[in-house]
Amino acid sequence: NKDWEQQAADALKSVARRMDIKAYVEQSPLLYELLKKAALHVTGDSRKDGLEAGQRLTAKGYDIGENTVNTEECETATLELTALIDDLGGQGTSARVSFDLSHIGLLPEPELAYMNLVKLTERALGTELELFISMEESAKTEQILEVYKRAASRYPNIGITLQAHLYRTPDDLAALSASPGRIRIVKGAYQESAEVAISRSESLNERYLQLVRQALGDGHRVSVATHDERIIEEAIQRGLLTEHGAKLEMLYGIRPELGSRLKSAGYPVQIYLTYGHEWYLYLCHRIAEYPPNLYRAVANMAES
Ligand code: FDA
Repeated sequence: NKDWEQQAADALKSVARRMDIKAYVEQSPLLYELLKKAALHVTGDSRKDGLEAGQRLTAKGYDIGENTVNTEECETATLELTALIDDLGGQGTSARVSFDLSHIGLLPEPELAYMNLVKLTERALGTELELFISMEESAKTEQILEVYKRAASRYPNIGITLQAHLYRTPDDLAALSASPGRIRIVKGAYQESAEVAISRSESLNERYLQLVRQALGDGHRVSVATHDERIIEEAIQRGLLTEHGAKLEMLYGIRPELGSRLKSAGYPVQIYLTYGHEWYLYLCHRIAEYPPNLYRAVANMAES
């Protein structure tokens, strides 16, 4: 029953947001281990888990993107990202390292996020790595774009994620025409009000495809980051995926059969891997955006 699924997923997400889910999960080792079995989309707690999963996928011919969800404090997160850049850079891979600016200081102070971003970007210069800024809830869009634009005007190796569901995104994209970085288009994972965003629908898919075309037209390298087959097929039909620098990106553990089919058909597919202690927040996001994941999560726990 779709209504029930959606209600349960929305409830889970709002409970996670309101109470300190971290305190609940971490005070019970049993709950921590049990729920972790449900977190299918996370490769593990540590950087080693993320790197090992990355090596397995690279051996199968996928590109990889790494992301960490440790957010305890921004200095710790910046150090973790620095170590990830060093490890991946040392392997000579052309992976992409994604992160939230909130993790590296946006909330106390956008200037701190900028300084940390500059540190990370400089660390990655001279490697094949690209850094990628994730997009967060709409209340932070303006600040994120400001920090990104400043950094992207100095460094070529940073890209940004834009959310097709926000009404403002075509204008934001137009304002990035002077920034050379890659643009990743996603539908948008955050619940937003109808004043600022459009919900999942055919028209969202059409907006998505128009943004891909707009970004390519402005000369950006573009990542089409979705598991929606209708968008992917339409992008193929419209010739968008054969344009210079276009890539498909998918989250680890979501529709792997689709990724494998597209890779076999010759399209560049990048898998976005996540590791970190705060996997439970990531799990809540993935369930809220696709409620049938509730069943999969419960089945995983039952099997453990
Ligand atoms: P949609 O949600 O409509 O799903 C299409 C189909 O894909 C579903 O019918 C189902 O079959 C499958 N599917 C989708 N989600 C699933 C799930 N969780 N489990 C199992 N199957 C699922 N968002 C954001 O706001 N800021 C960001 O920075 C990023 N970054 C990012 C990077 C990358 C590489 C990807 C792929 C995605 C993001 N996202 C994101 C998440 C994005 O906004 C969006 O929430 C998800 O990609 C799901 O949306 P789809 O486009 O897949 O479509």
